[in-house]
Amino acid sequence: MKRRELLTGGAALAAAGGCAAPGGQPGTALPAAPAQAPLRRIALGSCFDQTKAAPIWDTITASRPDLFLFGGDNIYCQMPYSLPRLREAYALAAASPGLSRLRAAVPHMAIWDDNDYGLNDGGADFTEKLTSKAEFLQFWQAAADDPRRGREGLYDARMFGPPGRRVQVILLDTRWFRSAWKRTDQRDAPGKERYVPDADPAKTVLGEVQWRWLEAQLRQPAEVRLLFSGMQVVTQGHGWERWGNLPLERERLYRLIGDTGAQGVVVLSGDRHIGALYREDRGTAYPLYELTASGFTHTWTTASEAGPNRLGELYRELHYGAVEIDWDSRSLRLDVVDTAGLPQRSQSIAFNELRARP
Ligand SMILES: [Fe+2]
Repeated sequence: MKRRELLTGGAALAAAGGCAAPGGQPGTALPAAPAQAPLRRIALGSCFDQTKAAPIWDTITASRPDLFLFGGDNIYCQMPYSLPRLREAYALAAASPGLSRLRAAVPHMAIWDDNDYGLNDGGADFTEKLTSKAEFLQFWQAAADDPRRGREGLYDARMFGPPGRRVQVILLDTRWFRSAWKRTDQRDAPGKERYVPDADPAKTVLGEVQWRWLEAQLRQPAEVRLLFSGMQVVTQGHGWERWGNLPLERERLYRLIGDTGAQGVVVLSGDRHIGALYREDRGTAYPLYELTASGFTHTWTTASEAGPNRLGELYRELHYGAVEIDWDSRSLRLDVVDTAGLPQRSQSIAFNELRARP
């Protein structure tokens, strides 16, 4: 999504200094051992403009999540892209006291979106992605033997919790391999603001290598799977970046979830500068719910769009997302949470809903 409209007056970097090294504060080790206590609260979100105040970090830290998912646009590189500008953005983020407290206190994982990738609505043809990847891995303190260092892109997955109470987190890279969009012929027209659907079978969102990796992930046993795509997946009714603009790829995703027998999939997304909940039943093995959480520091306060599969209204204020899992009642709840820590949109889902229909 083009950010210029949203960021007018706010995106100019406050710091004008040189090439400060990214990274800085210590990270928190992930609770990686499967025998550990199951996850009960996962917080998430996207879109942190490091030049803006972000009191929401302390709200999130105070909610004591077991895990936090940084869903992309975790910093904003000033455009046009340059390595010094990217490093400057990371350095400013590293200096954010609230973010530092969260990173020190809460285990976390991260995937990028277009603004930390380095190109608005960028895809496979972005020429500087290797450089951006190196900076990302440094800021997020990836280990020397992190598998992402030895392959293209930044897709990643982890399994948490003991058998019977496993949460699988899958972070998709929808930037590195993604084919070019088909541009709209009616810019800003509702439903086709920037892009229109393109059924070219040669085009891809994930690329074959990531598709094969995703299939292997989905074949692993888990009770709950959080599938994070920076770009919205099930959402209909707008012409910004979304999986529906490459409808064959979205059908492939729905089919893959069914074919692998993967139960418990819930989609998480960001990017849009709004919060919302969605549910898709068409073409899916079971109801596919999506929680979009986008806007730690800035939101699209005048957003309005058709939402044929949206549950309730858009949330246009600052927020983060939360997944609350109740292992005893075998259910979970998706929340859009405001800066005071209060849920503003919620959807409860029984585990039984998230399995293939007979
Ligand atoms: Fe953003």
